[in-house]
Amino acid sequence: MKISDRHFEEALKLIPWGTQTNAKRPFPQFDDTMPKFIDRGKGCRIWDMEGKEYIDFRLALGPITLGYCYDEVDDAVREQMKKGVLFSMASPLELELAQLLHEAIPNAEMVRFMKTGEDANLCNVRIARAYTRRDMILISGYHGYPDWFAVDDSPKNGVPAILKDYVKIIPWGNCDEAERLIKQYNERIACVVSIPYDQNEDISGSYIKHLRKLTQEHGILLVMDEVWTGFRLAYGGAQELYGVKADLASYAKAMANGYPISTYVGKRQYMETLNTFRMTTTYAGETLSIAAAIATLKIMKREKVHDHLNAMGRRLMDGFNRIAAECGVQAHAAGLPPSPYLKFDTPDKDYNERLEYLWFRELLRDGVFVVLRWFICYSHKPSDIDEALEKAQKALKQALEAEPKERETTKPFYW
Ligand SMILES: Cc1ncc(COP(=O)(O)O)c(C=O)c1O
Repeated sequence: MKISDRHFEEALKLIPWGTQTNAKRPFPQFDDTMPKFIDRGKGCRIWDMEGKEYIDFRLALGPITLGYCYDEVDDAVREQMKKGVLFSMASPLELELAQLLHEAIPNAEMVRFMKTGEDANLCNVRIARAYTRRDMILISGYHGYPDWFAVDDSPKNGVPAILKDYVKIIPWGNCDEAERLIKQYNERIACVVSIPYDQNEDISGSYIKHLRKLTQEHGILLVMDEVWTGFRLAYGGAQELYGVKADLASYAKAMANGYPISTYVGKRQYMETLNTFRMTTTYAGETLSIAAAIATLKIMKREKVHDHLNAMGRRLMDGFNRIAAECGVQAHAAGLPPSPYLKFDTPDKDYNERLEYLWFRELLRDGVFVVLRWFICYSHKPSDIDEALEKAQKALKQALEAEPKERETTKPFYW
């Protein structure tokens, strides 16, 4: 038995799922090819408990934008650690980060910090409700586990069923449904919360632009959930990329190269509502993550990190299109280069899913760590992308060979 399998068995006895995060649950279908634990990382590489090395395209589910153990960021954290992690008054670093965010994010007239993506989203919803004195919200996309964003699974998940009266879901990208719900609930709605981009769908920003127009027409606030698009698609996130200004926005992953910090930002008139009620937490001013965020943003600005993310992502996408053509598979690279989606698109959906599963299985076996969503970081160099593409071609040939043999036994691997 592998050390990691034994470790996982022990973890399951004490920790539900054996981990803290849904996406970190080992997919049972991948069995022994997917590492159950990651022991360490450096640059764009990670090592599992058995010491096996992988080129990583999952990047801690998005937050690693520069690379693991990025010296300049970790040095800033170590320096701050010598001074102290947390104090009973604000640290001077808070203003420095606020200034960087104000400069980077198009609608950030004022900013405040939190710890996670959902924290930031929750804070924005509170501000929107307090400002408009309305109770309802519309949501579109995944925004985190809290009650307001998890009504679809209520009451099984402990969320009071009554919240369904206050939260309506717009299937992402569905402009007609957005319009219908906004017209139906109109003056009861405080805000629409939406992700601006969904990797395998529309990359033009037309949906978020449509939501901006609709919310403006109806006097409803638009909260852009930039938790994974912020500091990834562009320095200022999708707001910069698409030229759409939200009233309020949430940023988290990608802003501090993995250190836990998020920010909720917005136009002054809304953010100033915060002076009229209490929304507070002890750890939001934790200085190590603030130091990490300052260092990360400075590097991004100084070294044009996003040009690199785009170039490496484009190299991966072009390479995948070439490999698929050479192997005679109908497939294409979708999405935007800093986070593309490499998909098989034959007319047979079941075949595509089987092939995808088998391809990922072989990629994992050969030391390329990825499932579904590919993320690029600053430490991915052309040679890393080319090595991954070489492995991707080999893995695709193996998957194509395995598919007819494993047709009956292959099941979709999604949770
Ligand atoms: C768009 C979006 N919003 C919110 C969240 C929740 O963020 P966190 O897990 O940091 O609370 C996520 C996490 O994946 C996300 O992708």
